[in-house]
Amino acid sequence: MARKSTPNTLVVVGVQWGDEGKGKVIDVLAEKADILVRYQGGNNAGHTVIADGEEFIFHLIPSGLLHPGKVGLLGNGVVIDPEALVDEMSRLRNRGINVEKAVKISDGAHLIFPYHKRLDAAREAIATGRLGTTRRGIGPCYMDKVARVGLRVGDLADTNAFAEKLRRNVDEKNQLLQAIYNEKPLSFDEVYARYRDFGRILAPHIVYAPRFLRDAIAAGKRIVFEGAQGTMLDIDYGTYPFVTSSNATSGGVCTGAGVPPTVIGRVLGVVKAYTTRVGEGPLPTEFSPDLMEAIRTKGKEFGATTGRPRRCGWFDAVVARHAVWINGCHSIAVTKLDVLDEMETIQICTGYRDGKKIIEDFPADMETLARCKPIYETFRGWRSDTSGVDRFSRLPKAAQAYLRRIEKLVSVPIALISTGSAREQMFTTTAWKLS
Ligand code: GDP
Ligand code: IMO
Ligand code: MG
Repeated sequence: MARKSTPNTLVVVGVQWGDEGKGKVIDVLAEKADILVRYQGGNNAGHTVIADGEEFIFHLIPSGLLHPGKVGLLGNGVVIDPEALVDEMSRLRNRGINVEKAVKISDGAHLIFPYHKRLDAAREAIATGRLGTTRRGIGPCYMDKVARVGLRVGDLADTNAFAEKLRRNVDEKNQLLQAIYNEKPLSFDEVYARYRDFGRILAPHIVYAPRFLRDAIAAGKRIVFEGAQGTMLDIDYGTYPFVTSSNATSGGVCTGAGVPPTVIGRVLGVVKAYTTRVGEGPLPTEFSPDLMEAIRTKGKEFGATTGRPRRCGWFDAVVARHAVWINGCHSIAVTKLDVLDEMETIQICTGYRDGKKIIEDFPADMETLARCKPIYETFRGWRSDTSGVDRFSRLPKAAQAYLRRIEKLVSVPIALISTGSAREQMFTTTAWKLS
């Protein structure tokens, strides 16, 4: 059956190593959307929204749900810690949101259990091979999904089958915890009792996601797919092994949400005006300690989930170009421009030098990347306050030049510019339209 027009759908993805300000961007875009969908990751994500001066951090529920009347779906590709979800639902309820109507959960999303968190933490405690994970059980849960032994949200309904599958898992994981990690075993009875309670709480929210989204698209609903993490944390196209365990890139939308590629309308990449990452792994443009401290303080660069200090560096156009291609970004949103307001000079990495070779594409292997030295272009800082500026032409000339150069280097237009954490501190450029 031929479709008359492309549905009004937008994918929002992180271009760097996460924390680009996706939460804020999605919250603002949500005003014009009906349904918001998370398609991967779990409560390793921390998406900050500041509405009416109050901060709300989303971990599992899509970031647009502070607006009344919106519906948020957690798709198949999401891994759900029910304890974290129930807590988030109650925090939203306290903000006056009708959670009973607003939150939908795909029956095929996998559940995170206490043994996943224990295994994540136990592996991280071993000094060699540490990834600096959030210890939320994300990796071990996706391992069980791929090993075909995981339990899904839909399993909660059939208590007998659920109990049997859970017992097999608890028995196996207890052996692992005791024999390999020298940890205490978990009690099946305790885990089972808690998850039965969660099952009762979550039951009214469960849907079959492909049908839910098919009907929504047929009814002309406007849908935003919210990526968690970022391109460089993608399991396939990030800085493996220093990545998360899901496809954070736009390719993850189809399987993670339950929609065909033909319904994807536009893709917006979110990028900071500089770079950050939390956890271990390469960060080619990482600042020297002095600059690190200054930007971390000004940008409040501490993890929204774990509170860990984020590592900071200059804008890396090699990373951004890689992300624009792999996600198919039509445009990008640049956030946190204001954090650079006081800099005398600013640098952009335009390529890497590997010995005598100049590299413009992100290296596929980490050995090459480890040898690479960034090549920088230097820009004059603007040394004035950009927070609250409401149009491009009102930005200082030096800030305009900086942004124009980024646009040129990534070959797609900048659609949104954010100069502060509040909703109002963001403006669109003429290139922007939602669908
Ligand atoms: P996400 O994971 O991509 O949603 O980003 P986080 O919420 O983890 O981190 C982004 C942080 O930057 C949050 O504390 C936001 O409130 C803040 N933020 C977002 N946009 C801006 C901006 O333009 N300027 C400043 N100064 N802060 C911003
Ligand atoms: P949002 O959605 C930044 C990082 C962790 C670690 C690696 C693997 O807020 O941008 P995991 O717990 O996923 O197994 O950890 O991924 N990480 C994030 N970094 N923002 C995030 O999410 C992240 N989610 C995971 O720090 O390096
Ligand atoms: Mg975050």
